[in-house]
Amino acid sequence: MLSSSSSSSPFVYFLTLFFSLFLLFLFAPQILPLKKQRSPITVQDELDDLQLFHEATLASSRGFSKISHLGTTNPKPKIAFLFLTNSDLVFAPLWQRFFQGNDHLFNVYVHADPYSKLSTPQWSVKANFIPAKRTERGSPTLVSAARRLLANAIIDDPFNLYFALLSQHCIPLHSFPYIYTSLLGNPTAASKSFLTQRSHKSYIEILSNEPHLHNRYVARGEGVMLPEVSFQRFRVGSQFFVLAKRHALLVLKERKLWRKFRLPCLDLDSCYPEEHYFPTLLSMQDPRGCSHYTLTRVNWTDSVDGHPHTHHSPEVSPDLLHTLRKSNSSYSYFFARKFSPDCLKPLMAIANDVIFRD
Ligand SMILES: *[C@@H]1O[C@H](CO)[C@@H](O)[C@H](O)[C@H]1NC(C)=O
Ligand SMILES: *[C@@H]1O[C@H](CO)[C@@H](O)[C@H](O)[C@H]1NC(C)=O
Repeated sequence: MLSSSSSSSPFVYFLTLFFSLFLLFLFAPQILPLKKQRSPITVQDELDDLQLFHEATLASSRGFSKISHLGTTNPKPKIAFLFLTNSDLVFAPLWQRFFQGNDHLFNVYVHADPYSKLSTPQWSVKANFIPAKRTERGSPTLVSAARRLLANAIIDDPFNLYFALLSQHCIPLHSFPYIYTSLLGNPTAASKSFLTQRSHKSYIEILSNEPHLHNRYVARGEGVMLPEVSFQRFRVGSQFFVLAKRHALLVLKERKLWRKFRLPCLDLDSCYPEEHYFPTLLSMQDPRGCSHYTLTRVNWTDSVDGHPHTHHSPEVSPDLLHTLRKSNSSYSYFFARKFSPDCLKPLMAIANDVIFRD
């Protein structure tokens, strides 16, 4: 009798302790009194995302068998354009003209923050508004939103092989055929070649020598990124990337680093998870498969409060657009940001003669 009760009670204690630790692990980021932290990612949001990412992984394995059995239909690979926004997509008319005549070579997905009021954008192209959640600067919610866009695009169409993340302030600097051919080759050429996705590079900025990198590394507290991410392996890069499908899947399957990057920041001035999670992960997993530079031009001269230079309508000219294209890497820039809404009119006026002439 005695011996049986003494053996069961430690077991109960152990269970209780285990369960409490589990709950603490799950909810600690929400119940610990942290400095004015921004909207944390709730357990429910996290579970919803995990389910979605799992579906995307399954869909991609089904997608491959579907692709390899399509012999004669000659399907074309596509580029998924992912718009991450919390305001109106004012450049929709420009993007529409960009997409015109290329219907079978792209898809558009939009993650629009449900807490911001958007007037319905006038897209004539088929745009998929995916189930979206709140996004906020300086919080891991922007990483979650980007991953949601990747997952939805993978589930929706197995022929999406490149994924370009953009914002409402981005504009194209080249024609669609130029960008498509640069990434995937001539669409009339052998269509089977795109199955060898190993050769597809991702265009993502990966930097290790930025002056404020250490502040950003310790933004969640001293030592909390260890052991998964040492400072030597911590990277920074532009939030805006063009990922090849195998890297998009890698990002969706990833759990270990995310457990660290999703932690709320204590130092909000140095907190930009969306500029660290993707570059750090990809530089750890496949540095040779990445360009280490971005295809989206941005002007950080005299940046204010973490915002880059915003172009206004008087600046818009053929010269500016030609200047923005120029880069020091093997490709010229495909996209640029940030542009204020008043730029739409002058940009539309020179679109055919300048932007889409290449
Ligand atoms: C970059 O921003 C700076 C400062 O706002 C501005 O003077 C310069 O003209 C911009 N460069 C381009 C190419 O737009
Ligand atoms: C290219 O490199 C030069 C020299 O380092 C630099 O001054 C220039 O700003 C760079 N241009 C771009 C578009 O990054």
